[in-house]
Amino acid sequence: MFSRYLMRALALAVGLYCIALIFQSALVLHFDTSPNLGSHIEQLGLGLLAGAIFAVSCPWLTARRPALTTLIAASVFAGLQALLLQDDASLSKLAEGWLGFLAGLRMISAVLKSWSALYERHLESYGGEAHGVRHRSDRRPNMRDWNAGQYLKFEDERTRPAIDLLARVPLTDPKRCIDLGCGPGNSTELLARRYPNAEIIGLDSSDAMLEKARQRLPHLAFEKGDISAWAPSAPFDLIFANAALQWVPEHAALLPRLVAALNPGGCLAVQVPDNFNEPSHVLMRDVAARGPWAQRLGGAVTAREKIGSFGDYYARLKGAGCSVGLWRTTYVHCLDDADAIVEWVKGTGLRPFLDPLDEAEQATFLALYRSEIAHAYPTQFDGKVLLPFPRLFLVARRS
Ligand SMILES: C[S@@+](CC[C@H](N)C(=O)[O-])C[C@H]1O[C@@H](n2cnc3c(N)ncnc32)[C@H](O)[C@@H]1O
Repeated sequence: MFSRYLMRALALAVGLYCIALIFQSALVLHFDTSPNLGSHIEQLGLGLLAGAIFAVSCPWLTARRPALTTLIAASVFAGLQALLLQDDASLSKLAEGWLGFLAGLRMISAVLKSWSALYERHLESYGGEAHGVRHRSDRRPNMRDWNAGQYLKFEDERTRPAIDLLARVPLTDPKRCIDLGCGPGNSTELLARRYPNAEIIGLDSSDAMLEKARQRLPHLAFEKGDISAWAPSAPFDLIFANAALQWVPEHAALLPRLVAALNPGGCLAVQVPDNFNEPSHVLMRDVAARGPWAQRLGGAVTAREKIGSFGDYYARLKGAGCSVGLWRTTYVHCLDDADAIVEWVKGTGLRPFLDPLDEAEQATFLALYRSEIAHAYPTQFDGKVLLPFPRLFLVARRS
């Protein structure tokens, strides 16, 4: 927060200073008086150039601690200038170089950020994240609780992958099962139907979802808890997590810990949406990066975990002593229109983008997003739209 205000104040100072310089140069051109205007502009220009070069060449540095890195880099630049100018170094020249550097770095960073997809890829190659994006442990945007009603608008479509996942679980008579991220109980109900004699528990961090789940399945136990910190007192035969782990930081690293909570012969069954690069999700990031909310929505981009590769999941589960089955399916959902796609993602992926905005901003965001979606998902001959939705599945059995 402090750094954002500091940066704004500095940007304003640089802007005012530039206006003053332009005004001064207009006077000089008119009256032909100031002897050293050239060198003033030179220092500012040099600073701008150095800042711009720094922003392009060291995004991994500027992405990590933007305010601190910018201030340190600009001060180093001013120090170098002082060395080069030696006797000719005056405080005003050094300040001009320093301010120029800040302005150059911030301007180029802003341009890079507006090309967010490109920038993310650029940063990813350094293992970093975009300006304004919080870091792994601390990057969740302010998210409100889940809206169970919104989520259940597409209950049949959302439950289909859970049915397919459960169909691949080879257990016939498990004694203890848990549904991690059970949501409103739709996936838990599948477990209860298939294993009527088992003890079945649902775990979720959302009060709203738990309330719905308890109403739906009053005879089952539902617990509030965070999957990241989950440490059961007794092992399970089945750990089921449908469409939940993508919300858990570093979920791939969590897998061996989940396997350790299984009895020998027990199963871990997981499904995660693999739609980060689908238009529905690319477009929400684009709209977020283009609007006046870009800064505030920086964290939304990474609120959901990136899905790992087959090789990554395989190695972690094999290393934990499991036999492993992995597959990816693209469901093609036939929806009424583009609005239905927006309604769908409002219940899940769009939440981190909408929650930090006020009502008016949400309406503007949704209008922009809707028009992009309408272009990306053309209407079929019968007026419907098709939403391809890839999902990744894994079933691991502990030996
Ligand atoms: C998309 S819903 C999935 C609901 C259900 N399992 C299904 O198959 O439709 C994701 C659920 O995971 C829960 N969740 C997300 N992060 C969680 C965490 N760290 N700990 C516990 N639950 C979490 C959310 O509250 C939400 O209810």
